[in-house]
Amino acid sequence: MNIVTFESTEELNEAGAGIVISLLQTKPDAVLGLATGGTPVGVYEHLVKAYRKGRLSFRKATSFNLDEYVGLPQEHPESYYSYMKQHLFDHVDLPVHQAHIPDGNAENPEEECRRYEAKLAEAKQIDLQILGLGHNGHIGFNEPDHTLVSGTHVVELKEETRKANARFFDSMDEVPTHAITMGVGMILKAKTILLIVRGEDKADVVHRALTGPIRTELPASLLQTHPNLVVMLDQAAAKHF
Ligand code: GLP
Repeated sequence: MNIVTFESTEELNEAGAGIVISLLQTKPDAVLGLATGGTPVGVYEHLVKAYRKGRLSFRKATSFNLDEYVGLPQEHPESYYSYMKQHLFDHVDLPVHQAHIPDGNAENPEEECRRYEAKLAEAKQIDLQILGLGHNGHIGFNEPDHTLVSGTHVVELKEETRKANARFFDSMDEVPTHAITMGVGMILKAKTILLIVRGEDKADVVHRALTGPIRTELPASLLQTHPNLVVMLDQAAAKHF
């Protein structure tokens, strides 16, 4: 595990984007695992800037998003589909059919999970999986539990997760109760994992996840088992290291 702490958010975002840029420069057909949430927004901003300067192309790349809310219309501003379009897809040359996000509006969500899993299997392995961290230690939408699921599945969101994400919605009632998420098996299968954590409110959970016991009740702690984990922290999140 390689933990790097940055003095400023700007430097962190630039370094995070730098890993994606180097990967696409050396392997243009790389498979990217993409995350949403507030954390990676700055990384995507840097990627768009670099793309505009001609430093990289996504033309041959493939991407898989970690998760999507169930039942939120695609065009809703808080769907992860809208998020990805707003922050990355509308600004770079990644072909639409090469960008995968679970369909949270599929008539049969279980079947959608199987479809997504089959697409992931076709891609064989994610080269670089970008991850944020939930306050309760979730990765993707793999919530703390007695057991964790390996493949793509439907998950009921914890109350604390819905509360944390309520800041993006007009009211708590609007926050979806379920999501489709890639499972921890696929996340851990990625060649490289880039975990990005910012803010003092996550200092404790990131420290427990990376230095404490490995427990399914703290899904991010499973990342300790990954042979190629890069962790990027700002100073506030790195408080206990
Ligand atoms: C969200 C997402 C995760 C994300 C996490 C943290 O609910 N499903 O993929 O990493 O929670 O979000 P944020 O970066 O906004 O703190």
